[in-house]
Amino acid sequence: MFTQVSLVLSLALLSAASPLAPRKGPKTVPLARKLNIAAGTKIADVDQARAKALSKAGADGPKAEDGVSPVSVTNTVVIYTAEVLVGSPPQTFNLIVDTGSSNTWVGANTANPYVPTSTSVNTTNIIVCSSAFFFTRHYGLEYNDTVALGELSIPQQTIGAAQFALGGFSGTDGTTASGNPILTVTDNAWEQGLLSQYEIGISFQPPTNSSDANGQLTFGGVDESKFDGPITYTPLTTTAPASGYVGINQTVTYGSQQVPILTNAAGILDTGTTLVPIASDAFAVYQNLTGAVLDTTTGLLKITGEQYDSLESLFFEIGGRTFELTKNAQIWPRTLNTNIGGDADGIYLVVSNLGAPSGHGMDFVDGYGFLERFYAVYDTGSSRVGLATTPFTNATTN
Ligand SMILES: *[C@@H]1O[C@H](CO)[C@@H](O)[C@H](O)[C@H]1NC(C)=O
Ligand SMILES: *[C@@H]1O[C@H](CO)[C@@H](O)[C@H](O)[C@H]1NC(C)=O
Ligand SMILES: *[C@@H]1O[C@H](CO)[C@@H](O)[C@H](O)[C@H]1NC(C)=O
Ligand SMILES: *[C@@H]1O[C@H](CO)[C@@H](O)[C@H](O)[C@H]1NC(C)=O
Ligand SMILES: *[C@@H]1O[C@H](CO)[C@@H](O)[C@H](O)[C@H]1NC(C)=O
Ligand SMILES: *[C@@H]1O[C@H](CO)[C@@H](O)[C@H](O)[C@H]1NC(C)=O
Repeated sequence: MFTQVSLVLSLALLSAASPLAPRKGPKTVPLARKLNIAAGTKIADVDQARAKALSKAGADGPKAEDGVSPVSVTNTVVIYTAEVLVGSPPQTFNLIVDTGSSNTWVGANTANPYVPTSTSVNTTNIIVCSSAFFFTRHYGLEYNDTVALGELSIPQQTIGAAQFALGGFSGTDGTTASGNPILTVTDNAWEQGLLSQYEIGISFQPPTNSSDANGQLTFGGVDESKFDGPITYTPLTTTAPASGYVGINQTVTYGSQQVPILTNAAGILDTGTTLVPIASDAFAVYQNLTGAVLDTTTGLLKITGEQYDSLESLFFEIGGRTFELTKNAQIWPRTLNTNIGGDADGIYLVVSNLGAPSGHGMDFVDGYGFLERFYAVYDTGSSRVGLATTPFTNATTN
């Protein structure tokens, strides 16, 4: 079910770190970006299936009786991966960065599954992992081993024989069969005193071509060079099912007339979603305002050049501050149109239909269409999410 993503990380990115950085300073992990579109796949459908799976799964993972189709994270259209070295001598895995599920299995069903190394400790536990992406719970042998992610090296990280948990917030973490929680990478690094802040900074940029590999995780702090101005924080939402993930409340309006799209709605920030799906009723209002038509080939809303000229910004009110998603940010990068089966000169919108009405505690997913324009901070220690503008917030590269 899980195929390994083989991407080679640019080592040049690693050496960009300051050699004078304090031992407990923020630890940078470069990410690689990959477009992962199988012929005939519609991004909007993939995102919709994922949102449905996340909604149904809640904190305990999906159950077969939920009728939720398993959605492997490798089906995600845009994938960001981080290289992970496990054990000694190190085995290399490409971790798929998925904050919607802290249980990311690496090496499962691949030619190179994890095998115990000289630094492995057999905990003799059986590991059980459930996530929105597995129909059934997965069981495996549990080991502790050294895990290195970019500048961060964590001894005694608990892993499954094919399992690896990046860690977002509680609720989606793996547990051992005996019910003990597995410490995620972030939790474990924090508990071991390797980080000075209990948080992750996340940076992406709008891609300018299909091989544009950009993206960076910062464990234990933020990277000041990746954002402008202040970071505005908002508490994690307590509304389920969004509360099982990186959930927040936000209000969205359209244009200078401030037409309401979503009002104080709960939803999530998600690195496993490509577009910006919103509840079906909100989507209908947005479609009306933009005059867009649903393009059957790509599954995305499509507008004409004239409609693009008159397209207005979406305003996301989060934590008392307004974040403007410009008209250029609302369109799929045109250099990637043909990658999704679209016309080279077509204009497709990244705001898509979540496939469920609002009012169900999962009314939006701020996926890459949003995260490529704003810096995000997952502040586990203070149970809050931070957002800031970046040099790419107003980019017109799409
Ligand atoms: C495995 O690592 C965890 C910390 O992640 C620690 O609590 C546990 O004692 C370790 N188990 C063994 C058998 O060393
Ligand atoms: C780890 O412990 C389990 C449970 O005792 C055992 O079945 C397994 O063979 C051990 N693995 C290794 C590599 O020794
Ligand atoms: C893709 O975009 C990146 C970032 O802008 C740039 O560095 C790279 O040269 C581009 N590659 C191609 C093949 O155009
Ligand atoms: C968050 O949104 C949900 C759903 O609209 C609402 O019930 C809840 O009161 C909101 N929470 C806050 C703190 O406004
Ligand atoms: C769309 O616009 C039409 C015409 O202005 C209006 O009658 C209809 O109620 C609108 N639908 C939505 C969902 O806003
Ligand atoms: C983006 O442009 C808007 C005007 O459309 C401006 O108000 C805002 O300050 C700009 N943001 C950034 C981060 O440059």
